Formats: sequence, structure tokens, C-alpha cells
Amino acid sequence: MDTTTAMIIEDYPLMPQVRLKNGLTICRLVNGMWQVSGAHGDIEPNKAVSVMQKYTDLGYTTFDMADIYGPAEVIFGKFYRGHCSRRNAPVQAMTKMVPSPGPMTWSVVESAVSKSMSRMQVKRLDCIQFHWWDYTDKRYLDALHHLREMQRNGRIRELSLTNFDTERLEEITAKGIEISTNQVQYSIIDQRPAQGMTKFCRMNGIKLLTYGTLCGGLLTDHYLGKPEPKGRKDLCTASLWKYKQMINSWGGWKLFQELLATLREIADEHGVTIANVATRWVLCDSAVASVIIGCRFGVEGANHATENLRSVSTGWALTEENVSAINKITSKSNNLLKSIGDCGAEYR
Ligand SMILES: NC(=O)c1ccc[n+]([C@@H]2O[C@H](COP(=O)([O-])OP(=O)(O)OC[C@H]3O[C@@H](n4cnc5c(N)ncnc54)[C@H](OP(=O)(O)O)[C@@H]3O)[C@@H](O)[C@H]2O)c1
Repeated sequence: MDTTTAMIIEDYPLMPQVRLKNGLTICRLVNGMWQVSGAHGDIEPNKAVSVMQKYTDLGYTTFDMADIYGPAEVIFGKFYRGHCSRRNAPVQAMTKMVPSPGPMTWSVVESAVSKSMSRMQVKRLDCIQFHWWDYTDKRYLDALHHLREMQRNGRIRELSLTNFDTERLEEITAKGIEISTNQVQYSIIDQRPAQGMTKFCRMNGIKLLTYGTLCGGLLTDHYLGKPEPKGRKDLCTASLWKYKQMINSWGGWKLFQELLATLREIADEHGVTIANVATRWVLCDSAVASVIIGCRFGVEGANHATENLRSVSTGWALTEENVSAINKITSKSNNLLKSIGDCGAEYR
């Protein structure tokens, strides 16, 4: 793990950016829109659009969504139309294609791409991240061939994946399909990508986009010294629920509290927060392009945009001692690669 900020950063005043394989430049902190799917509280679309504009004004110009995130693409489209009429500052929209199992003909894939473009109100897709549920059904290769053709025709800029494991990433690359990014869960808790995938990515110019880096908000100051949250009442968003199961598999609440206490000491040393340390830790991996942080746009609650900018500030860096202190705790945890499988196995 490098302790300096990755060299790929271009130093913009507020938000550093990174260039992907086909030239799309995205922020190192990306706004995650699963949080507007409806599984994290009721959404007020107009309010969501106005908060998205505020994030953009702070430099958060990259948005991550999916065709299966409820109204996320439509809300982005509404925001984008207003944004374009207001000013020219570029924004980047990454979506996902998450098809139900079935034939991946040209017409099936083309209609999914067209639907996303129409909902997002864009003339081409900056980035499409393809997901597949069942590796025994090889038709993911058909879909990727069609998407590559659409990329050649200019409808798609970056052809990407989400939740693909290292074995399939190698298979797809060997077929000559150039992949820009793979979106996977990566955090101090879930270090599976570092056990094989990151090496392959570095060798092949593939970047990782990470989610779960804050464990849905659990890996923040908010949960330091708190009793173990249990049940749907405490774990009231889909995200909190998901990552609490991950923490249980990793080593449980007691060890998690030890980790939070150590992260608090590191945060004190640098005058930042636990969220900042947890985010910077992932960004220090040179295979990582960006960390996606879920934003509950249009839902009552805290706006973390200003605080999270400190995760990418050049005014501080994790030291070797900081990384060792984190390793001392995580060495006591279970190996999630062994218990769950490689990245994305939890979905299959
Ligand atoms: N490809 C996939 O399968 C997949 C799966 C999951 C997620 N994703 C993507 O990744 C995005 C991130 O989602 P996630 O579920 O992984 O959530 P996450 O980013 O780990 O956590 C997001 C939550 O953390 C809290 N938070 C953010 N900054 C904070 C700070 N500085 N201090 C305290 N709390 C803070 C917020 O909670 P409050 O709102 O309660 O304040 C926010 O809703 C999604 O929107 C989606 O785009 C992709």
C-alpha cells in the first residue's frame, strides 16, 4: 500500500481528478446514487436535484447510478438538464447495466443502453458498468461484445464492469475486450481486491471504482463507542444493513470498535475524521481511481460534502506508522476472500 496520494491525481484546487483509459476524467470522490433508489429513505426529487447542484459547485462532478436504482437515472436527467442550461462545467455520469438473465442479443443490449440514455437525458454514455449474476451462463461475453461495438460507434465512452472477479476479468481481457474500470467493494474491512485483483488491474491499465468504503456510514465517527446496532430499526438503510453483515463476517462489533478507536487516533494526528482516514486508505492503492460515497440526495439528513473533501486534501497523508496500526487490527480479522469468495461473490 502506498502511503502517498496516488500519482495519477491531477491537482485541481478542490477535487482531484483521474483520467480513465478512453479519456473520461472523473473525480476521485464520486457521488453514489444507490441512496436515491428508495431503499435509504423517501426521496423528494426536486430537493435531490438542488442538493446535486450544490455538490457539483463544490467540485463533486461525477455521479454513479444504475438502471436498477429506482428513479436515480431519471433524477440525474432532471439535474443534468438544469445544470446544462445554467452553466457549462462538465459533469460525468456513470451508470450500470444490470440485466436479468436471458439472451444478450444486440437488440436487448441496445435497448438497455437507449433506455438509460433517454432517462439520463444524455447524447452518449460516459461510462457503462456491466453486471452479471451467473458465470455459468457465458452470455455476459455476448453482451460485452455488443457494448464494445457501441463504444466503437461512439455511443459509450468507457466500457466497464461491476462486481466481476479476477478470474473473469482475466478471461474478458484475454478476449481482447478493453475494460476501463471494475466497480467493487473495497474498504479497510473488505480488503479482498488487494489479494489478486489490484495486481491484475495495475498490469492491464484497469482502474477500480470502490464502494462500501465507509460501510454505509458505519466506518465513521458516528459509530465510535456506540453499542452494536441490531435489527431493521437501527440499520435503517439497505446500505447499513448490508455492511453490518460484512462486519459480522469480518470479526464482529468488538473488533470493529477497536478499529474505530485506532482510526480516531490517526484522525486526531492529522486533524481529520474517521471517514477521511478510511477513504484515504483506499485511495492510496494505486489501482483505485475513485471512491464512491453514497449521498442521500433529497433525503433529510447530514450533507457530508465539505467534510469528505478533506479525504482528498493534499495537506495530509497517511504515514507508514498509521498503516501499520491499521494492519495490527485487521490482522485479527477473518479473511473475507476465504469466507465469501472474490469480489462480487456475495451477489452470486
Ligand atoms: N456495484 C455495486 O454492487 C454497488 C453496491 C453498493 C453501492 N454501490 C455504489 O456505491 C455507492 C456508495 O454506497 P454504499 O452503500 O457503499 O455506501 P457508503 O458510501 O459506504 O456509505 C454512504 C453513507 O455514509 C454516510 N457518510 C458519508 N460521508 C460521511 C461522513 N463524512 N461522516 C459520516 N457519515 C458519512 C452517509 O450516511 P447518512 O446519509 O446516514 O448521513 C452515507 O449515506 C452507491 O450509491 C452506489 O453508487 C455499488
